[in-house]
Amino acid sequence: MANFSKPQSIVTMLVALFALLQLTVASQHAAHHHHEHRRHAEIKAHLDRAAEALQKRQGGGIGPYIATSGVCSTGTQWWGDCNPKGRQSYPRLEIRQLKNNADQWNLYLLGMERFMAKDKGDTLSFYQIAGLHGRPFTTWNKFPTPLLNQAGFCPHGTTIFGSWHRPYLAMYEQAWYLAVTEVINGFPSNQQQRWRNAASTLRMPYWDWAQDPGNGQPTVPTTIRDPQVTVTKPQGQVQIANPLYSYTWGKSLPNEMGGGPWNSWPTTLRRPVANPTRSNNNEVNARMNSIRISLRDRIFALFASKQSWGNASTSQIGVRTDLSGSGVDSFESVHDVVHNTAGGETGGHMYYLDVSAFDPIFWLHHTNIDRLLTMYQYIVPNTWVANGNIRGPMAQWNAGESKNGGSPLKPFTKNTYGDYFTSDDVRDTRVLGYYYPETSNRSYSQVAQAVTSLYGGGARKLTKRDGESNYNSVGQYLGRPLKEGDYHHVLDITADKFAMAGSYTVHCFIGNPGNSTSNSTSNSTAPYGNSTSSAYLPTATSPSKKNGTGEILDDYDPALDFTNDPNYVGAYGILGGMKAGNASSPLITRGSLPLTTCLQGKQVHGYLASLHPHDVEPYLHQNMYYKVISDAGEIDPSTIPNFHVAVKCNKVQPAASDDDLPDLSAPFQVLHKATAKLPAGKPYTHTPVPNEMPAPNADYSEDGYNAGYPDNDNGGNYQSPSNSNGEGGFCPVVQTIKYVYPDGRPAGS
Ligand SMILES: *[C@@H]1O[C@H](CO)[C@@H](O)[C@H](O)[C@H]1NC(C)=O
Ligand SMILES: *[C@@H]1O[C@H](CO)[C@@H](O)[C@H](O)[C@H]1NC(C)=O
Ligand SMILES: *[C@@H]1O[C@H](CO)[C@@H](O)[C@H](O)[C@H]1NC(C)=O
Ligand SMILES: *[C@@H]1O[C@H](CO)[C@@H](O)[C@H](O)[C@H]1NC(C)=O
Ligand SMILES: *[C@@H]1O[C@H](CO)[C@@H](O)[C@H](O)[C@H]1NC(C)=O
Ligand SMILES: *[C@@H]1O[C@H](CO)[C@@H](O)[C@H](O)[C@H]1NC(C)=O
Ligand SMILES: *[C@@H]1O[C@H](CO)[C@@H](O)[C@H](O)[C@H]1NC(C)=O
Ligand SMILES: *[C@@H]1O[C@H](CO)[C@@H](O)[C@H](O)[C@H]1NC(C)=O
Repeated sequence: MANFSKPQSIVTMLVALFALLQLTVASQHAAHHHHEHRRHAEIKAHLDRAAEALQKRQGGGIGPYIATSGVCSTGTQWWGDCNPKGRQSYPRLEIRQLKNNADQWNLYLLGMERFMAKDKGDTLSFYQIAGLHGRPFTTWNKFPTPLLNQAGFCPHGTTIFGSWHRPYLAMYEQAWYLAVTEVINGFPSNQQQRWRNAASTLRMPYWDWAQDPGNGQPTVPTTIRDPQVTVTKPQGQVQIANPLYSYTWGKSLPNEMGGGPWNSWPTTLRRPVANPTRSNNNEVNARMNSIRISLRDRIFALFASKQSWGNASTSQIGVRTDLSGSGVDSFESVHDVVHNTAGGETGGHMYYLDVSAFDPIFWLHHTNIDRLLTMYQYIVPNTWVANGNIRGPMAQWNAGESKNGGSPLKPFTKNTYGDYFTSDDVRDTRVLGYYYPETSNRSYSQVAQAVTSLYGGGARKLTKRDGESNYNSVGQYLGRPLKEGDYHHVLDITADKFAMAGSYTVHCFIGNPGNSTSNSTSNSTAPYGNSTSSAYLPTATSPSKKNGTGEILDDYDPALDFTNDPNYVGAYGILGGMKAGNASSPLITRGSLPLTTCLQGKQVHGYLASLHPHDVEPYLHQNMYYKVISDAGEIDPSTIPNFHVAVKCNKVQPAASDDDLPDLSAPFQVLHKATAKLPAGKPYTHTPVPNEMPAPNADYSEDGYNAGYPDNDNGGNYQSPSNSNGEGGFCPVVQTIKYVYPDGRPAGS
């Protein structure tokens, strides 16, 4: 911070940029005569603010904002930003892999404990960073108030879903890492070097819910489920409340979590049950296990779909309204069902966009989504954020605003002066100090190999879950590699994200004629009640018994869980908020649940002649069924506005080698008969409304000023410097000219 040796070069750059900006003014004048006068005043205002910013920098001032940098191990520049010189990136590891390094694991947990305990008034507290996603709908890091809308900052169902969460995760990671360094400083000085060594390559982990955990390990690691955990502190080994199990609001109950039970629950809960109210992590594990094959298949099909990154990253129908084409699923849509499953219909926090970020599992989950999106960048390179519109009111944006790769990812500033990151800035994760094991080489082949071995039916010999003889009582078929002549089949789902208060989940089954021992649609585990009232929480199936580490052992009865049905294919989730959206402006999403693996199993067992659509269509007509469950219980799909299902298939082009991916990009055909007798299964074609269509390029520029700045209504006349090309990078000076302070105050005021 005391390094004052650099300001001269910044002065030079600013002067050059002043000249550049004036050239831009000249050319813009030629193009838009009618705006000339106004532009002139705006440019002058920009220059004035830039000059003040320069003055402030020359004076050694540090901007008022906390810069998002990820883990920055090289210290800060004199003006407070991360020093990019010599900065190293390290991999974020899978949680089970991180645990293998005892010292790093210990620091991870101790850092989480300290981070979560920070004062709620601290910008870098867990509370504030989790809170900016949704509730309590307040400002963060001096973002100007009043917020544009009573809403959180998280853009879901938009084209910037993937890129916005990247600096968000990096901010969380840097705040947690700050706590790690504070923890290390609390160790005796002769022990600190050991912990510093461990911290030097430490990044936060992800949880890969789709990979086979192997060796009979549970799908949800016990490290996320155990209420207690043993750690090494300066005084030795101690047991602490597991920071990955829940977040606790502190001594007083939260009164800003949306009312209902959330204000009276002192801690985050997963699939809660009552008396006493507690998480049912055993059911979370069982449910995640039941949908793991479908998650694996969705990831694999996405990587093989070859659609553009922009199309693959968002569930919003707007960018991919074609019925044919490869764009039938998205990483955001896959992300939704993990939220719904972890939270559960009884009011678990993950079930609602508004409060989900308070559950520590959110961060492990979202880091995995960021990882998959990073990997996808190498599978379909040269594509990035698609143009699109904000569909619902948000803290920082109004419905209808157009966004593209150059739009500021408010409220994340890349420096202390308040210049926002854009999606283009964070295209390379190393800008934020990290990468993933699968992207260390930045290569297509490394990612393709990883996808095949982790999510494909090709690399390992896969068998049924519980052996041949048990096929009809438990277990799903685990699949085989796709081969010549195969077809890929999916249940395609079109749904309004905010059709109702809360989320909803589609559960799909494919039965066997004459062999169904139970009607899976007629029963399900109890926890439906009215989640806005904890009085409706189900009581666990038997009084809770705890084992030595405090895990409740018997809250879950597999016999009552319909997802254990042998005919269960998987779940498709639509993640909503606590309140329904604007019914006259629905946010239509699309995604799909692959049926291929299940159909392969039916073929292996002689129920189905082939995977050819002429065999599959009548088979599904007879045997496929589904149900929709919300926090109000099971609901009739035909009563859900804008809800439609269809079966589609396309021809598979098998992988050229064991290390490569098959090609699932062939156009899909709809098998109308397959869903003809199902609710919401009639032929349907979505007609896009104007707001779903990406705006022409000219409409995307957005100035960096926020609400409250008098010129904000001009729609933005300045092209962001990062609009024109896909180059990422850390370029604070250019952005200072462009945005100055996010609240529009002249720099230095
Ligand atoms: C996204 O998908 C739609 C529909 O399939 C297609 O028209 C569009 O070109 C795709 N966008 C990109 C950026 O590839
Ligand atoms: C990464 O690159 C190195 C050097 O080119 C190579 O030896 C290694 O096999 C690659 N790893 C993977 C997983 O592709
Ligand atoms: C029922 O399943 C058994 C295998 O478990 C199979 O042999 C039999 O043919 C099936 N019956 C019908 C009617 O499909
Ligand atoms: C199975 O459940 C569905 C949906 O609830 C119902 O329509 C059907 O009659 C049931 N069939 C049997 C045999 O119970
Ligand atoms: C549904 O579950 C209940 C227990 O909650 C059980 O008593 C009942 O027999 C089940 N019904 C069917 C049709 O399986
Ligand atoms: C759900 O709970 C809310 C708040 O307690 C209550 O007003 C509403 O009537 C309940 N709905 C049902 C279907 O029980
Ligand atoms: C308690 O149960 C969990 C989950 O089954 C297990 O991982 C843990 O080892 C158990 N602890 C003891 C002391 O039995
Ligand atoms: C709901 O959407 C319609 C159509 O876009 C819009 O005219 C109306 O203002 C919206 N209502 C609210 C309360 O936002």
